[in-house]
Amino acid sequence: MEDLKGKVAIVTGARRGMGKSHALKLAKAGTKVTVSDISQEECQVVVDEIQKAGGEALAIKCDVSNKKEVDQMVQKTVEKFGRVDILVNNAGICQFKSFLEMTEEEWDRTLNINLRGYFLCAQAVAKEMVKQKSGAIVNIASVVMGQMGKGMAGLAHYSASKGGVAALTKTLALELAPYNIRVNAIAPGAIDTPMAASTKTDPKILEQTLAIIPLHRMGEAREVTNTVLFLVSNASSYITGSVIVVDGGWLAG
Ligand SMILES: NC(=O)c1ccc[n+]([C@@H]2O[C@H](COP(=O)([O-])OP(=O)(O)OC[C@H]3O[C@@H](n4cnc5c(N)ncnc54)[C@H](O)[C@@H]3O)[C@@H](O)[C@H]2O)c1
Repeated sequence: MEDLKGKVAIVTGARRGMGKSHALKLAKAGTKVTVSDISQEECQVVVDEIQKAGGEALAIKCDVSNKKEVDQMVQKTVEKFGRVDILVNNAGICQFKSFLEMTEEEWDRTLNINLRGYFLCAQAVAKEMVKQKSGAIVNIASVVMGQMGKGMAGLAHYSASKGGVAALTKTLALELAPYNIRVNAIAPGAIDTPMAASTKTDPKILEQTLAIIPLHRMGEAREVTNTVLFLVSNASSYITGSVIVVDGGWLAG
């Protein structure tokens, strides 16, 4: 993945979990990375780690559901690094709530971050990529996305948002292909991150989860990161509009 050297990437939700893993590995591949999340301090810690290892990075506080902050994030990235080649739309929230008790606010908050946020970031970045006539966008969806994926009780808002991400990905792939911008999604299964902490800490939930995963373990963030790097590099130059499942075989069952 030599071609990633010197490229410029924005990773949202990168203070921890999978986003942090994507940012660190992109930087290791020689990509200049904007590390973005809701906490400036925690983004800076990731940036410090990248710089200590000899990489280039910039910390930017950005709530992806806030258009003004999203536009500023893209503007500051272009000011610092001159362009944007890669967007990893990764920021997300996942809070279990029964459908009958779900409030309008809970629904809106999840959709605003997980779906509207992806739209805002993709549009702001694509406007830069269109000028360059090149770019790669990776949207993090989930196996919980309906249609070819799963539904999951307690996650009406989350699964609706991730189904939306998969649909958004395919449509953006069509609209941005004339500008040589590829848009793909990844649908992770159960990955060992802070978001999935309750799966890990409750032995009963862990047992139930592992029982339906053929590889019989949770995935590691780096296993999703490997797919991110593939999708943003020239190694995947003929892939656009795809949703790649990284789930230990969960959806095969
Ligand atoms: N962990 C899993 O099992 C799993 C499975 C499928 C999909 N995913 C998806 O992967 C992505 C990364 O999740 P993770 O597992 O690393 O969880 P995580 O909670 O560790 O990371 C999510 C990050 O998003 C950030 N974030 C939340 N709201 C934000 C906002 N408004 N603006 C900017 N950043 C915000 C959080 O601060 C956090 O750093 C998410 O989109 C999630 O839905 C996770």
